Amino acid sequence: MSAVVVEPDPVQFEVPALPHAEPCVITIFGATGDLTRRKLMPALCRLLGQGCLDGVEVLGIGRSAMSNDEFQAFVRDALNKSKKIEHLDEEHWRKFSERLHYMAGELDDEQTYRAIQSRIEELVAEGASKNRLFYLATPPSLFPVIVKGLGGAGLAEENDHWSRIVIEKPFGHDLESAKALNLEISKVLKESQVYRIDHYLGKDTVQNILVFRFGNSMFEPIWNRNYVDYVEITAAESGGVGTRAGYYEESGALRDMVANHLLQLLTLTAMEPPVAFDADSVREEKVQVLRSIRRMKPEQVAERTVRARYGPGTINGETVKGYKDEEGVRKDSQTETYAAVEFQISNWRWSGVPFYVRTGKSLARNMTEIAVHLKPTPQALFARTPKEQIDPNVIALRLQPNEGITVMFGAKRPGFEMQTTMVNMDFCYQRVFGVEAPDAYEMLLLDVMQGDATLFIRGDEAEHQWRLITPIEQAWTSHGLPKLATYDAGAAGPSEADELLARNGHRWRSLQDKHGCD
Ligand code: BG6
Repeated sequence: MSAVVVEPDPVQFEVPALPHAEPCVITIFGATGDLTRRKLMPALCRLLGQGCLDGVEVLGIGRSAMSNDEFQAFVRDALNKSKKIEHLDEEHWRKFSERLHYMAGELDDEQTYRAIQSRIEELVAEGASKNRLFYLATPPSLFPVIVKGLGGAGLAEENDHWSRIVIEKPFGHDLESAKALNLEISKVLKESQVYRIDHYLGKDTVQNILVFRFGNSMFEPIWNRNYVDYVEITAAESGGVGTRAGYYEESGALRDMVANHLLQLLTLTAMEPPVAFDADSVREEKVQVLRSIRRMKPEQVAERTVRARYGPGTINGETVKGYKDEEGVRKDSQTETYAAVEFQISNWRWSGVPFYVRTGKSLARNMTEIAVHLKPTPQALFARTPKEQIDPNVIALRLQPNEGITVMFGAKRPGFEMQTTMVNMDFCYQRVFGVEAPDAYEMLLLDVMQGDATLFIRGDEAEHQWRLITPIEQAWTSHGLPKLATYDAGAAGPSEADELLARNGHRWRSLQDKHGCD
Protein backbone atom coordinates (compact mmCIF):
# COMPACT_ATOMS: atom_id res chain seq x y z
CA MET A 1 0.00 0.00 0.00
CA SER A 2 1.43 3.38 -0.88
CA ALA A 3 0.68 6.42 1.22
CA VAL A 4 -0.55 9.85 0.34
CA VAL A 5 -0.40 12.25 3.23
CA VAL A 6 -2.90 15.07 2.94
CA GLU A 7 -2.37 17.31 5.87
CA PRO A 8 -2.47 21.04 6.61
CA ASP A 9 0.27 22.88 8.45
CA PRO A 10 -0.01 22.59 12.22
CA VAL A 11 -3.24 24.30 13.13
CA GLN A 12 -2.76 27.71 14.72
CA PHE A 13 -5.67 27.53 17.10
CA GLU A 14 -6.47 29.91 19.86
CA VAL A 15 -5.76 28.37 23.24
CA PRO A 16 -9.15 28.21 24.93
CA ALA A 17 -9.53 29.56 28.46
CA LEU A 18 -8.71 26.80 30.95
CA PRO A 19 -11.74 25.28 32.63
CA HIS A 20 -12.01 25.63 36.38
CA ALA A 21 -13.20 23.06 38.82
CA GLU A 22 -15.89 24.19 41.22
CA PRO A 23 -14.21 24.39 44.65
CA CYS A 24 -14.76 21.26 46.73
CA VAL A 25 -13.23 18.73 49.10
CA ILE A 26 -12.34 15.51 47.28
CA THR A 27 -12.40 12.51 49.60
CA ILE A 28 -10.57 9.57 48.06
CA PHE A 29 -11.36 6.12 49.44
CA GLY A 30 -8.44 3.84 48.62
CA ALA A 31 -5.96 6.71 48.97
CA THR A 32 -2.89 4.50 49.17
CA GLY A 33 -4.02 2.18 46.39
CA ASP A 34 -2.75 1.65 42.89
CA LEU A 35 -5.30 3.81 41.09
CA THR A 36 -4.70 6.78 43.37
CA ARG A 37 -0.95 6.44 42.92
CA ARG A 38 -0.88 5.88 39.18
CA LYS A 39 -3.81 7.95 37.92
CA LEU A 40 -5.59 10.20 40.41
CA MET A 41 -2.66 11.99 42.05
CA PRO A 42 -0.80 12.71 38.78
CA ALA A 43 -4.06 13.98 37.23
CA LEU A 44 -4.86 16.24 40.20
CA CYS A 45 -1.31 17.51 40.37
CA ARG A 46 -1.29 18.38 36.67
CA LEU A 47 -4.67 20.08 36.89
CA LEU A 48 -3.39 22.17 39.77
CA GLY A 49 -0.30 23.07 37.76
CA GLN A 50 -2.56 24.34 34.97
CA GLY A 51 -4.48 26.53 37.40
CA CYS A 52 -7.71 24.50 37.16
CA LEU A 53 -8.02 23.49 40.81
CA ASP A 54 -8.50 26.68 42.83
CA GLY A 55 -10.24 25.95 46.11
CA VAL A 56 -9.91 22.18 45.92
CA GLU A 57 -8.69 20.15 48.94
CA VAL A 58 -7.96 16.43 48.91
CA LEU A 59 -8.69 14.13 51.85
CA GLY A 60 -7.24 10.64 51.47
CA ILE A 61 -8.82 7.75 53.35
CA GLY A 62 -6.93 4.49 53.78
CA ARG A 63 -6.58 1.64 56.22
CA SER A 64 -2.93 2.25 57.10
CA ALA A 65 -2.21 4.62 59.93
CA MET A 66 -0.25 7.49 58.45
CA SER A 67 0.40 11.12 59.33
CA ASN A 68 -0.30 13.90 56.82
CA ASP A 69 3.44 14.19 56.23
CA GLU A 70 3.75 10.49 55.50
CA PHE A 71 0.82 10.65 53.09
CA GLN A 72 2.40 13.60 51.34
CA ALA A 73 5.66 11.67 51.04
CA PHE A 74 3.72 8.74 49.55
CA VAL A 75 2.13 11.06 46.99
CA ARG A 76 5.44 12.72 46.18
CA ASP A 77 6.94 9.33 45.48
CA ALA A 78 3.98 8.44 43.25
CA LEU A 79 4.43 11.67 41.28
CA ASN A 80 8.15 11.10 40.91
CA LYS A 81 7.43 7.69 39.38
CA SER A 82 4.61 8.91 37.14
CA LYS A 83 5.29 9.14 33.42
CA LYS A 84 2.69 11.92 33.30
CA ILE A 85 4.81 14.24 35.44
CA GLU A 86 8.03 15.03 33.64
CA HIS A 87 9.27 17.60 36.06
CA LEU A 88 7.77 18.70 39.36
CA ASP A 89 9.25 21.97 40.56
CA GLU A 90 9.27 22.76 44.26
CA GLU A 91 6.72 25.56 44.02
CA HIS A 92 4.25 23.32 42.17
CA TRP A 93 4.75 20.54 44.70
CA ARG A 94 4.40 22.95 47.67
CA LYS A 95 1.05 24.21 46.36
CA PHE A 96 -0.18 20.66 45.73
CA SER A 97 1.06 19.15 48.99
CA GLU A 98 -0.63 21.89 51.04
CA ARG A 99 -3.95 20.51 49.87
CA LEU A 100 -3.26 16.90 50.76
CA HIS A 101 -4.78 15.56 53.98
CA TYR A 102 -5.06 12.03 55.29
CA MET A 103 -7.20 10.01 57.67
CA ALA A 104 -7.05 6.30 58.46
CA GLY A 105 -10.25 4.34 58.98
CA GLU A 106 -11.99 1.01 58.52
CA LEU A 107 -14.58 1.37 55.78
CA ASP A 108 -17.10 -0.95 57.39
CA ASP A 109 -17.16 1.10 60.58
CA GLU A 110 -19.82 3.84 60.89
CA GLN A 111 -17.43 5.76 63.11
CA THR A 112 -15.12 6.30 60.11
CA TYR A 113 -17.81 8.24 58.25
CA ARG A 114 -18.59 10.40 61.27
CA ALA A 115 -14.87 11.14 61.52
CA ILE A 116 -14.80 12.05 57.82
CA GLN A 117 -17.76 14.36 58.37
CA SER A 118 -15.90 16.12 61.23
CA ARG A 119 -12.68 16.34 59.23
CA ILE A 120 -14.51 17.90 56.28
CA GLU A 121 -16.19 20.38 58.65
CA GLU A 122 -12.77 21.32 60.03
CA LEU A 123 -11.48 21.91 56.52
CA VAL A 124 -14.54 24.04 55.76
CA ALA A 125 -13.92 26.04 58.95
CA GLU A 126 -10.39 26.65 57.65
CA GLY A 127 -11.80 28.03 54.40
CA ALA A 128 -12.49 24.99 52.19
CA SER A 129 -15.66 24.75 50.13
CA LYS A 130 -18.67 22.82 51.44
CA ASN A 131 -19.00 20.93 48.14
CA ARG A 132 -18.08 17.27 48.48
CA LEU A 133 -16.75 14.81 46.00
CA PHE A 134 -16.28 11.19 47.08
CA TYR A 135 -14.03 9.07 44.88
CA LEU A 136 -14.34 5.30 45.31
CA ALA A 137 -10.95 3.96 44.27
CA THR A 138 -11.24 0.79 46.36
CA PRO A 139 -11.87 -2.85 45.44
CA PRO A 140 -15.45 -3.07 44.12
CA SER A 141 -16.65 -5.23 47.01
CA LEU A 142 -16.39 -2.09 49.17
CA PHE A 143 -18.57 0.13 46.93
CA PRO A 144 -21.89 -0.75 48.64
CA VAL A 145 -20.27 -0.52 52.07
CA ILE A 146 -18.94 2.98 51.40
CA VAL A 147 -22.19 4.20 49.86
CA LYS A 148 -24.07 3.00 52.93
CA GLY A 149 -21.52 4.62 55.23
CA LEU A 150 -21.82 7.94 53.41
CA GLY A 151 -25.61 7.75 53.62
CA GLY A 152 -25.56 6.90 57.33
CA ALA A 153 -23.40 9.90 58.17
CA GLY A 154 -25.50 12.27 56.03
CA LEU A 155 -22.50 12.90 53.78
CA ALA A 156 -24.52 12.47 50.60
CA GLU A 157 -27.00 15.21 51.48
CA GLU A 158 -27.08 18.38 49.45
CA ASN A 159 -28.23 21.53 51.23
CA ASP A 160 -26.30 24.65 50.39
CA HIS A 161 -23.64 22.63 48.59
CA TRP A 162 -23.37 19.66 46.21
CA SER A 163 -22.30 16.13 47.02
CA ARG A 164 -21.16 13.77 44.24
CA ILE A 165 -19.73 10.30 44.09
CA VAL A 166 -17.38 8.80 41.52
CA ILE A 167 -17.42 5.03 41.13
CA GLU A 168 -14.63 3.21 39.39
CA LYS A 169 -15.03 0.15 37.23
CA PRO A 170 -15.95 -2.66 37.48
CA PHE A 171 -19.51 -1.63 38.20
CA GLY A 172 -20.68 -5.08 39.30
CA HIS A 173 -19.52 -8.32 37.74
CA ASP A 174 -22.79 -9.35 36.08
CA LEU A 175 -26.32 -8.08 35.54
CA GLU A 176 -27.58 -9.04 38.99
CA SER A 177 -24.70 -7.47 40.88
CA ALA A 178 -24.92 -4.27 38.79
CA LYS A 179 -28.64 -4.03 39.58
CA ALA A 180 -28.00 -4.64 43.27
CA LEU A 181 -25.31 -1.95 43.32
CA ASN A 182 -27.59 0.53 41.56
CA LEU A 183 -30.27 -0.23 44.11
CA GLU A 184 -27.93 0.40 47.06
CA ILE A 185 -26.77 3.64 45.49
CA SER A 186 -30.32 4.82 44.81
CA LYS A 187 -31.17 4.48 48.52
CA VAL A 188 -28.57 7.14 49.28
CA LEU A 189 -27.99 9.26 46.20
CA LYS A 190 -29.93 10.69 43.28
CA GLU A 191 -28.75 9.52 39.85
CA SER A 192 -27.56 13.09 39.13
CA GLN A 193 -25.05 12.75 42.00
CA VAL A 194 -23.49 9.56 40.62
CA TYR A 195 -20.57 9.50 38.17
CA ARG A 196 -19.66 5.98 36.98
CA ILE A 197 -16.28 6.10 35.29
CA ASP A 198 -15.21 4.46 32.07
CA HIS A 199 -11.88 6.12 31.49
CA TYR A 200 -12.08 5.50 27.72
CA LEU A 201 -14.69 8.24 27.55
CA GLY A 202 -12.13 10.69 28.91
CA LYS A 203 -9.82 10.12 25.96
CA ASP A 204 -9.83 12.99 23.45
CA THR A 205 -9.78 10.64 20.50
CA VAL A 206 -12.81 8.76 21.81
CA GLN A 207 -14.76 12.00 22.12
CA ASN A 208 -13.64 12.85 18.62
CA ILE A 209 -15.70 9.92 17.31
CA LEU A 210 -18.74 12.13 17.93
CA VAL A 211 -17.17 15.17 16.30
CA PHE A 212 -16.09 13.11 13.31
CA ARG A 213 -19.58 11.71 12.86
CA PHE A 214 -21.79 14.62 13.82
CA GLY A 215 -19.58 17.63 13.11
CA ASN A 216 -19.12 16.76 9.43
CA SER A 217 -21.77 16.27 6.80
CA MET A 218 -19.46 14.07 4.74
CA PHE A 219 -19.54 10.80 6.67
CA GLU A 220 -22.96 10.56 8.27
CA PRO A 221 -24.86 9.83 5.02
CA ILE A 222 -22.81 6.67 4.50
CA TRP A 223 -22.79 5.62 8.17
CA ASN A 224 -25.44 2.91 7.90
CA ARG A 225 -26.28 -0.53 6.54
CA ASN A 226 -26.61 0.77 2.95
CA TYR A 227 -22.90 1.56 2.74
CA VAL A 228 -21.20 -0.18 5.65
CA ASP A 229 -20.28 -3.83 5.30
CA TYR A 230 -18.91 -4.40 8.80
CA VAL A 231 -17.24 -2.62 11.66
CA GLU A 232 -14.29 -3.88 13.70
CA ILE A 233 -13.23 -2.49 17.03
CA THR A 234 -9.86 -3.53 18.38
CA ALA A 235 -8.15 -2.88 21.70
CA ALA A 236 -4.89 -4.81 21.52
CA GLU A 237 -2.31 -4.61 24.27
CA SER A 238 1.25 -5.89 24.16
CA GLY A 239 1.45 -5.91 27.97
CA GLY A 240 0.50 -9.06 29.85
CA VAL A 241 -1.40 -9.36 33.08
CA GLY A 242 1.57 -7.99 35.05
CA THR A 243 0.98 -7.81 38.78
CA ARG A 244 -2.81 -7.82 38.49
CA ALA A 245 -3.44 -11.56 38.27
CA GLY A 246 -5.53 -11.49 41.45
CA TYR A 247 -8.04 -9.12 39.86
CA TYR A 248 -7.72 -10.50 36.34
CA GLU A 249 -8.37 -14.10 37.33
CA GLU A 250 -11.85 -13.00 38.45
CA SER A 251 -12.44 -10.75 35.49
CA GLY A 252 -10.83 -11.99 32.26
CA ALA A 253 -10.78 -10.04 29.01
CA LEU A 254 -14.55 -10.05 28.50
CA ARG A 255 -15.40 -8.39 31.80
CA ASP A 256 -12.25 -6.29 31.94
CA MET A 257 -12.48 -4.69 28.49
CA VAL A 258 -15.49 -5.76 26.42
CA ALA A 259 -18.15 -5.16 29.10
CA ASN A 260 -17.18 -1.51 29.33
CA HIS A 261 -14.54 0.11 27.11
CA LEU A 262 -15.33 -1.79 23.91
CA LEU A 263 -19.09 -1.54 24.32
CA GLN A 264 -18.65 2.19 24.86
CA LEU A 265 -16.68 2.50 21.63
CA LEU A 266 -19.39 0.51 19.90
CA THR A 267 -22.20 2.74 21.18
CA LEU A 268 -20.38 5.90 20.11
CA THR A 269 -19.80 4.45 16.66
CA ALA A 270 -23.37 3.24 16.22
CA MET A 271 -25.55 5.76 18.07
CA GLU A 272 -28.05 8.11 16.46
CA PRO A 273 -27.31 11.84 16.57
CA PRO A 274 -28.35 13.12 20.00
CA VAL A 275 -30.70 16.13 20.11
CA ALA A 276 -28.03 18.05 22.04
CA PHE A 277 -24.55 17.46 23.35
CA ASP A 278 -25.55 17.09 26.96
CA ALA A 279 -25.55 14.26 29.47
CA ASP A 280 -29.14 13.15 29.06
CA SER A 281 -29.30 13.34 25.27
CA VAL A 282 -25.98 11.60 24.62
CA ARG A 283 -26.51 8.86 27.18
CA GLU A 284 -30.04 8.22 26.02
CA GLU A 285 -28.82 7.50 22.48
CA LYS A 286 -26.06 5.22 23.74
CA VAL A 287 -28.56 3.23 25.77
CA GLN A 288 -30.76 2.86 22.69
CA VAL A 289 -27.88 1.14 20.88
CA LEU A 290 -27.33 -1.29 23.75
CA ARG A 291 -31.05 -2.01 23.85
CA SER A 292 -30.99 -2.81 20.13
CA ILE A 293 -28.42 -5.56 20.54
CA ARG A 294 -30.02 -8.95 21.09
CA ARG A 295 -28.81 -11.07 23.96
CA MET A 296 -27.09 -14.21 22.72
CA LYS A 297 -28.43 -17.69 23.26
CA PRO A 298 -25.84 -20.34 24.24
CA GLU A 299 -25.62 -21.72 20.68
CA GLN A 300 -25.03 -18.19 19.37
CA VAL A 301 -22.33 -17.67 21.97
CA ALA A 302 -20.57 -20.78 20.64
CA GLU A 303 -20.73 -19.36 17.11
CA ARG A 304 -20.17 -15.66 17.64
CA THR A 305 -17.55 -15.46 20.34
CA VAL A 306 -13.94 -16.49 20.76
CA ARG A 307 -12.02 -16.79 24.01
CA ALA A 308 -8.36 -17.54 24.27
CA ARG A 309 -5.36 -17.38 26.53
CA TYR A 310 -1.75 -16.53 25.70
CA GLY A 311 0.96 -19.11 25.85
CA PRO A 312 4.70 -18.35 25.93
CA GLY A 313 6.09 -16.26 23.10
CA THR A 314 8.15 -13.24 22.12
CA ILE A 315 7.12 -9.61 22.23
CA ASN A 316 9.44 -6.89 20.90
CA GLY A 317 12.33 -9.36 20.95
CA GLU A 318 11.73 -10.36 24.58
CA THR A 319 10.72 -13.81 25.72
CA VAL A 320 7.41 -13.72 27.55
CA LYS A 321 5.88 -16.42 29.73
CA GLY A 322 2.44 -17.83 29.15
CA TYR A 323 -0.52 -16.67 31.23
CA LYS A 324 -0.66 -19.91 33.20
CA ASP A 325 2.86 -19.33 34.44
CA GLU A 326 2.22 -15.75 35.54
CA GLU A 327 2.40 -15.13 39.27
CA GLY A 328 -0.96 -15.38 41.02
CA VAL A 329 -2.69 -17.38 38.28
CA ARG A 330 -4.51 -20.52 39.45
CA LYS A 331 -3.20 -23.83 38.15
CA ASP A 332 -6.64 -24.76 36.82
CA SER A 333 -7.38 -21.26 35.54
CA GLN A 334 -9.84 -20.98 32.67
CA THR A 335 -9.53 -17.19 32.46
CA GLU A 336 -9.42 -15.73 28.97
CA THR A 337 -6.84 -13.08 28.12
CA TYR A 338 -8.37 -12.56 24.69
CA ALA A 339 -11.99 -12.16 23.66
CA ALA A 340 -13.64 -11.52 20.31
CA VAL A 341 -17.38 -11.06 19.92
CA GLU A 342 -19.67 -10.45 16.97
CA PHE A 343 -22.53 -8.16 17.97
CA GLN A 344 -25.59 -7.62 15.80
CA ILE A 345 -27.46 -4.36 16.26
CA SER A 346 -31.08 -4.90 15.34
CA ASN A 347 -32.19 -1.42 14.43
CA TRP A 348 -33.08 0.51 11.28
CA ARG A 349 -29.59 1.86 10.73
CA TRP A 350 -27.49 -1.23 11.39
CA SER A 351 -29.57 -4.32 10.73
CA GLY A 352 -27.35 -6.95 9.07
CA VAL A 353 -24.04 -5.15 9.75
CA PRO A 354 -21.81 -7.14 12.12
CA PHE A 355 -19.86 -5.19 14.73
CA TYR A 356 -16.84 -7.29 15.67
CA VAL A 357 -14.91 -6.41 18.79
CA ARG A 358 -11.64 -7.97 19.94
CA THR A 359 -9.27 -7.35 22.78
CA GLY A 360 -6.34 -9.17 24.25
CA LYS A 361 -3.23 -9.01 26.37
CA SER A 362 0.29 -9.97 25.24
CA LEU A 363 -0.50 -9.30 21.60
CA ALA A 364 1.89 -8.09 18.94
CA ARG A 365 1.45 -4.41 19.73
CA ASN A 366 -0.66 -1.77 21.44
CA MET A 367 -3.38 -0.59 19.14
CA THR A 368 -6.90 0.68 19.74
CA GLU A 369 -8.81 1.32 16.57
CA ILE A 370 -12.27 1.41 15.05
CA ALA A 371 -12.34 0.38 11.39
CA VAL A 372 -15.47 0.92 9.35
CA HIS A 373 -15.39 -1.24 6.23
CA LEU A 374 -17.57 0.04 3.40
CA LYS A 375 -19.29 -2.21 0.89
CA PRO A 376 -17.57 -2.91 -2.43
CA THR A 377 -18.60 -0.85 -5.46
CA PRO A 378 -21.53 -2.42 -7.35
CA GLN A 379 -19.42 -3.00 -10.45
CA ALA A 380 -15.81 -4.17 -10.47
CA LEU A 381 -14.79 -1.87 -13.29
CA PHE A 382 -11.08 -2.19 -12.69
CA ALA A 383 -11.03 -5.88 -11.80
CA ARG A 384 -8.78 -6.77 -14.72
CA THR A 385 -6.12 -4.17 -14.09
CA PRO A 386 -2.68 -5.68 -13.65
CA LYS A 387 -1.14 -6.60 -10.31
CA GLU A 388 -3.08 -4.72 -7.70
CA GLN A 389 -6.76 -4.16 -7.32
CA ILE A 390 -9.12 -1.91 -5.52
CA ASP A 391 -10.41 -3.14 -2.20
CA PRO A 392 -13.47 -1.68 -0.52
CA ASN A 393 -12.94 1.61 1.32
CA VAL A 394 -12.05 1.58 4.99
CA ILE A 395 -12.31 4.46 7.45
CA ALA A 396 -10.03 3.76 10.39
CA LEU A 397 -10.16 5.81 13.56
CA ARG A 398 -6.95 5.17 15.46
CA LEU A 399 -7.61 5.95 19.10
CA GLN A 400 -4.17 5.11 20.48
CA PRO A 401 -1.23 5.23 20.11
CA ASN A 402 -0.28 7.51 17.20
CA GLU A 403 -3.80 8.87 17.15
CA GLY A 404 -5.32 9.68 13.81
CA ILE A 405 -7.91 8.96 11.16
CA THR A 406 -7.19 7.24 7.88
CA VAL A 407 -9.46 6.93 4.88
CA MET A 408 -8.37 4.16 2.53
CA PHE A 409 -9.41 4.38 -1.08
CA GLY A 410 -8.40 3.21 -4.54
CA ALA A 411 -6.26 5.29 -6.89
CA LYS A 412 -4.67 4.93 -10.27
CA ARG A 413 -0.94 4.47 -10.26
CA PRO A 414 0.92 6.94 -12.50
CA GLY A 415 1.77 5.44 -15.86
CA PHE A 416 0.39 4.35 -19.22
CA GLU A 417 -1.32 1.28 -17.81
CA MET A 418 -4.58 1.33 -15.85
CA GLN A 419 -3.06 -0.02 -12.67
CA THR A 420 -4.90 0.57 -9.43
CA THR A 421 -3.84 0.44 -5.82
CA MET A 422 -5.09 1.37 -2.38
CA VAL A 423 -3.82 4.59 -0.82
CA ASN A 424 -4.32 6.30 2.52
CA MET A 425 -5.46 9.77 3.37
CA ASP A 426 -4.25 10.43 6.88
CA PHE A 427 -5.00 12.91 9.60
CA CYS A 428 -2.57 12.68 12.52
CA TYR A 429 -3.45 14.44 15.76
CA GLN A 430 0.10 15.04 16.85
CA ARG A 431 1.22 16.47 13.52
CA VAL A 432 -1.81 18.69 13.12
CA PHE A 433 -2.30 20.00 16.63
CA GLY A 434 1.22 19.55 17.96
CA VAL A 435 0.02 19.41 21.57
CA GLU A 436 -0.47 16.57 23.96
CA ALA A 437 -4.07 15.70 24.83
CA PRO A 438 -5.03 15.85 28.49
CA ASP A 439 -5.01 12.54 30.30
CA ALA A 440 -8.42 10.84 30.51
CA TYR A 441 -8.50 11.17 34.29
CA GLU A 442 -7.76 14.89 34.16
CA MET A 443 -10.64 15.38 31.77
CA LEU A 444 -13.07 13.28 33.80
CA LEU A 445 -12.11 14.68 37.20
CA LEU A 446 -12.70 18.19 35.92
CA ASP A 447 -16.04 17.17 34.45
CA VAL A 448 -17.22 15.78 37.79
CA MET A 449 -16.15 18.96 39.56
CA GLN A 450 -18.09 20.94 36.97
CA GLY A 451 -21.14 18.72 37.26
CA ASP A 452 -21.03 17.46 33.67
CA ALA A 453 -22.03 13.78 33.45
CA THR A 454 -21.97 13.46 29.65
CA LEU A 455 -18.85 11.28 29.72
CA PHE A 456 -20.01 9.01 32.54
CA ILE A 457 -22.09 5.84 32.52
CA ARG A 458 -25.71 6.13 33.53
CA GLY A 459 -27.12 3.49 35.89
CA ASP A 460 -29.34 1.83 33.28
CA GLU A 461 -26.48 1.94 30.77
CA ALA A 462 -24.28 -0.10 33.13
CA GLU A 463 -27.07 -2.65 33.46
CA HIS A 464 -27.61 -2.83 29.69
CA GLN A 465 -23.91 -3.52 29.20
CA TRP A 466 -24.11 -6.47 31.58
CA ARG A 467 -27.35 -7.66 29.97
CA LEU A 468 -25.24 -8.39 26.87
CA ILE A 469 -22.15 -9.74 28.60
CA THR A 470 -23.66 -11.99 31.28
CA PRO A 471 -25.22 -14.53 28.84
CA ILE A 472 -21.83 -14.88 27.13
CA GLU A 473 -20.05 -15.39 30.43
CA GLN A 474 -22.69 -17.91 31.53
CA ALA A 475 -22.53 -19.90 28.30
CA TRP A 476 -18.75 -20.03 28.52
CA THR A 477 -18.89 -21.35 32.06
CA SER A 478 -21.81 -23.73 31.88
CA HIS A 479 -21.56 -25.02 28.30
CA GLY A 480 -17.81 -24.66 27.87
CA LEU A 481 -18.33 -23.46 24.30
CA PRO A 482 -16.46 -22.20 22.46
CA LYS A 483 -13.43 -23.89 23.95
CA LEU A 484 -10.67 -21.78 25.42
CA ALA A 485 -8.23 -21.37 22.51
CA THR A 486 -4.58 -20.38 22.73
CA TYR A 487 -2.28 -17.93 20.98
CA ASP A 488 1.41 -17.27 21.29
CA ALA A 489 2.32 -14.15 23.20
CA GLY A 490 3.31 -11.59 20.56
CA ALA A 491 0.89 -12.92 17.95
CA ALA A 492 -2.18 -11.13 16.58
CA GLY A 493 -4.52 -13.43 18.50
CA PRO A 494 -5.88 -16.95 17.99
CA SER A 495 -6.72 -18.30 14.53
CA GLU A 496 -10.29 -18.86 15.80
CA ALA A 497 -10.77 -15.09 15.76
CA ASP A 498 -9.88 -14.99 12.07
CA GLU A 499 -12.36 -17.79 11.41
CA LEU A 500 -15.07 -15.83 13.23
CA LEU A 501 -14.89 -13.17 10.53
CA ALA A 502 -13.97 -15.46 7.64
CA ARG A 503 -17.30 -17.27 7.88
CA ASN A 504 -18.96 -13.98 6.88
CA GLY A 505 -16.29 -13.24 4.24
CA HIS A 506 -14.68 -10.60 6.47
CA ARG A 507 -11.16 -10.03 7.74
CA TRP A 508 -9.57 -8.21 10.69
CA ARG A 509 -7.12 -5.49 9.85
CA SER A 510 -3.60 -6.64 10.60
CA LEU A 511 -2.20 -5.38 13.89
CA GLN A 512 1.03 -4.87 12.01
CA ASP A 513 -0.41 -2.61 9.30
CA LYS A 514 1.41 0.66 9.24
CA HIS A 515 -0.71 3.70 9.61
CA GLY A 516 0.11 7.20 8.37
CA CYS A 517 0.76 8.36 11.94
CA ASP A 518 2.92 5.38 12.99
C1 BG6 B 1 -8.36 -0.99 32.21
C2 BG6 B 1 -8.21 -2.49 32.27
O1 BG6 B 1 -9.70 -0.63 32.47
O2 BG6 B 1 -7.99 -0.54 30.93
C3 BG6 B 1 -6.78 -2.88 31.94
O3 BG6 B 1 -8.55 -2.95 33.56
C4 BG6 B 1 -6.37 -2.29 30.61
O4 BG6 B 1 -6.63 -4.30 31.92
C5 BG6 B 1 -6.64 -0.80 30.59
O5 BG6 B 1 -4.97 -2.53 30.44
C6 BG6 B 1 -6.40 -0.21 29.23
O6 BG6 B 1 -6.49 1.18 29.33
P1 BG6 B 1 -5.67 2.10 28.35
O7 BG6 B 1 -6.10 3.49 28.71
O8 BG6 B 1 -4.23 1.85 28.64
O9 BG6 B 1 -6.03 1.71 26.98
